Amino acid sequence: MNEESYIAATKEAMSKAYVPYSNYPVGALIVTDNGNTYSGCNVENASYPLGNCAEASAIASMVIGGEKKIKTIYVMTKNDEGGIPCGGCRQRIREFSDSNTQIMMCSPDGVQQRINLSELLPNSFGPEHL
Ligand code: THU
Repeated sequence: MNEESYIAATKEAMSKAYVPYSNYPVGALIVTDNGNTYSGCNVENASYPLGNCAEASAIASMVIGGEKKIKTIYVMTKNDEGGIPCGGCRQRIREFSDSNTQIMMCSPDGVQQRINLSELLPNSFGPEHL
């Protein structure tokens, strides 16, 4: 798959978002080091704090798929600046990333910002600190 098809798959994930409360759909697509892809969308709840972020959904799907290494993660919203992972999701992504992991913040038009893990979450805490 090329970047264009990753963007299309991320957009498809965003279209599935269940966001009756925020009306802020987010799609995420993980490409693993094996080249497999796992998608997720945000899923909200009438009990607001129970909502799930798109990145968390994609990570759960990856783990259920038996994989644990994020090579690239695409995060899309409808904003021109692209999908910006929240603080909690930065830590979630960090758990399954290394210094080569790329975070692609996308609008429906494509990648708007491309950063690596240390830019996403500088000086971060992770499994090797335990
Ligand atoms: N959201 C995500 O899915 N990922 C993020 O990184 C930022 C926030 C969702 C949560 C909620 O459903 C909506 O966006 C508004 O906060």
